[in-house]
Amino acid sequence: MSLRLGDTAPDFTADTTEGRIRFHDWIGDGWAVLFSHPADFTPVCTTELGETAKLQQEFAKRDCKVIAVSVDSVEDHKAWIGDIDETQGCAVNFPIIGDTDHKVSELYDMLHPGEGDASTVRSVFLIDPNKKVRMTLTYPKSAGRNFDEILRVIDSIQLTDGYKVATPVNWRDGDDVIILPSLSDEEAKQHFPEGWKTLKPYLRVTKQPNR
Ligand code: BEZ
Repeated sequence: MSLRLGDTAPDFTADTTEGRIRFHDWIGDGWAVLFSHPADFTPVCTTELGETAKLQQEFAKRDCKVIAVSVDSVEDHKAWIGDIDETQGCAVNFPIIGDTDHKVSELYDMLHPGEGDASTVRSVFLIDPNKKVRMTLTYPKSAGRNFDEILRVIDSIQLTDGYKVATPVNWRDGDDVIILPSLSDEEAKQHFPEGWKTLKPYLRVTKQPNR
C-alpha cells in the first residue's frame, strides 16, 4: 500500500554514509526530504545528488534535512561521492542510506517492477516535524528531478500551514497568494486587513502575508 499525504512516515533504522540512524530521531524537530535514486555511478543520479549538495543552505533555511537512498551499499555510496564532488563541483554534505536489503525502499514503495530492474525509482517524500508525509513525487528513472520545485513546495506548505491561503500556479516565495475559498469575506477581513483583489468570489488574491 503506498503512502498517502497525511500518513505517518514509516520509521526505520539504516546504515548511511554518516553512520547508523533511526529515521525519526534523525529528523528531530524539523522537516525532512527522503529521496531515492536508481543506482550509484549513473549519470543522471550523479547530477541530482550534486545539485542537492549545492542546495544544502536552501534546505537548511527551511529547517529541512535531506537524505538519499538507493539499494547500493554504503561502501559504494562512499566511493561514488568522490565522483559526484569531482564532476559536479560540490561536497556531498548529507547522508545516503545503503538499502541493500530493500527495507526502506519497500516501506516507502520505491521499487516499481514496471520500471525495469529491482532498483528504486526517483521518489521524493517531504516529511514535517510531526513525521507526517506532506508531499510525494515519483519520477521515472530516465527523468532527473527539479530540486528547485522541491524547495518551492516546501515554501508553499510552510506558508499555508500558518495562514489561511493557498498558492497559485507557478507561485514562488514572495508572489501574491490566494485566500482560502472556505473563508467568508467577513472572516477574510480579520485575516487580511490590507485587503485583496476579487477576480471571482472564489478567487481572491492578496499579498503574501508573512512578507
Ligand atoms: C541515471 O541516473 O543516469 C540513470 C539510472 C537508471 C536508469 C537510467 C538513468
